Amino acid sequence: MELEDEISPLEACSAAGNPIIELRGVSFAVPAPDGGWRSILDNVSFTIGAGSITCLMGTSGSGKTTLLRLIAGLIQPDDGQVLVCNNEISRMKDRDLTAVRREMGFVFQYSALFDSMNVGQNIGFGLERRRRPRREIEPVVRELLQEVGLPGIENKRPSELSGGQKKRVAMARALATNPRIVLYDEPDSGLDPIMTRTIDDLIRKVRDTKNTTNVVVTHNVNSVWRIADRVLMLDNARIVADGTPAELEKSAVPVVRQFFEDEVRARLQHAAAV
Ligand SMILES: Nc1ncnc2c1ncn2[C@@H]1O[C@H](COP(=O)(O)OP(=O)(O)O)[C@@H](O)[C@H]1O
Ligand SMILES: [Mg+2]
Repeated sequence: MELEDEISPLEACSAAGNPIIELRGVSFAVPAPDGGWRSILDNVSFTIGAGSITCLMGTSGSGKTTLLRLIAGLIQPDDGQVLVCNNEISRMKDRDLTAVRREMGFVFQYSALFDSMNVGQNIGFGLERRRRPRREIEPVVRELLQEVGLPGIENKRPSELSGGQKKRVAMARALATNPRIVLYDEPDSGLDPIMTRTIDDLIRKVRDTKNTTNVVVTHNVNSVWRIADRVLMLDNARIVADGTPAELEKSAVPVVRQFFEDEVRARLQHAAAV
């Protein structure tokens, strides 16, 4: 499925482990109800290596979506720098930023499919915008639907799909343009545990077969154990934990303990109930 004949601006960083996303001292504030400012991210720094799956955790409102939007260049930091493959995206010319964005896929929290289009048109949207001919788009759409386990549903409308199907179509849409970076915003929200596992398996499969770099926002500790090479935990505008799932499980940081212990408690309750 090689579609790009342009030179990829992320090519130079795509070897496994190379720094591909870097935040340096990033701060971001939003207007507060009292007329002042509320800090959402305060001096946040980290580097993500190519080919990894990084799970981003944190309570609701802790700034996870904001962080994804900063990485995607949809918003700019108040302070600090966001670098994608060593290019500071806030300083890029529009044309260069567009070229970098084209290498990113975004799976939005609520799938955000276009209701007026059928599934095939949704998935082909990015390619259509790049003026790819229909004969080229159709096989890509067909293959992606196979990959996400939904072959032949091109002509369905988003309104006819279940939550899990919508998520998988949203994944297919994000992957259609062969992105090197895929940002997933709560791909498991509203799904039952079986569908969550299906989505997790797909995230892994995409990484393993396409060598994508992935940032996955999730609340689900089971998913973290299944897919994460690394976990970043956001709390009070800062990264309060950074490590493998096994390292976080041993963390003494209260919010990390809450996430991991709640999960253990749920498992014990479930075991006691059966
Ligand atoms: N453009 C904005 N204007 C005002 N408040 C915002 C804006 N964007 C985000 N926020 C607020 O910033 C906080 C963090 O938002 P978000 O990144 O969506 O959190 P999360 O994804 O972790 O739930 C929330 O309290 C949200 O209401
Ligand atoms: Mg969010």
